[in-house]
Amino acid sequence: MSGIIAPSILSADYTNLERDVKLVEAAGAEYLHIDVMDGTFVPAISYGPNWVKQLRPETDLVLDVHLMIQNPERFVEEFADAGADIIGVHVEATPHIHRALQMIKNKGVKAEVVINPGTPVSAIEAVLDMVDQVLVMTVNPGFGGQKFLPSTLQKIEQLQTFREERGFDFDIEIDGGVNNETIKSAYDAGAKVFVAGSYVYDKVDPAAKIGILKDLIK
Ligand code: DX5
Ligand code: ZN
Repeated sequence: MSGIIAPSILSADYTNLERDVKLVEAAGAEYLHIDVMDGTFVPAISYGPNWVKQLRPETDLVLDVHLMIQNPERFVEEFADAGADIIGVHVEATPHIHRALQMIKNKGVKAEVVINPGTPVSAIEAVLDMVDQVLVMTVNPGFGGQKFLPSTLQKIEQLQTFREERGFDFDIEIDGGVNNETIKSAYDAGAKVFVAGSYVYDKVDPAAKIGILKDLIK
């Protein structure tokens, strides 16, 4: 099973956004990862539903929207209406994770639950039967360009075991510090979708970077 690359738009050039999106699309990326930050759940502020709505007609990539916002159930419907294909909500951001995921599914959008590096898999065990994707944060959320935390690999393995033993069919995604040195270990542990921001966008030739990553997860 080959893996999927989801370039993170957080590291793109916002004054040349269309160019940066088309570039990764042409290079074989399948998803586009969109980091929504509220200045509360994480320190930074990024973009909102209107931004996603404007981006939607510009690309055929799967829009993978990662909500790093407190009480995400306040906004899931707006992001669904804006054209998100997948919406991820952090278990740490709401006492009502089941309701938040249900709201996403009711909109006909793929539902994803997200865990921070300090959160164990047991915190999401009760919702694993209802999600399409689980996002294991491999850095603490909030910023691009951080170092991959190898301690998260055992959570990927644990999720993979649950998936097989209990017949769940979610994909495992990882986010943070993904590059040519870290991607293979997460792939071998069971991850299928790989968010990559600074590795793809910060230096020269994003298309070549995607090629390198894809070769490592064939
Ligand atoms: C971090 C974000 C990531 C970020 C990853 O809070 O959720 O999606 O863009 O960036 P890199 O790949 O640079 O670690
Ligand atoms: Zn993200």
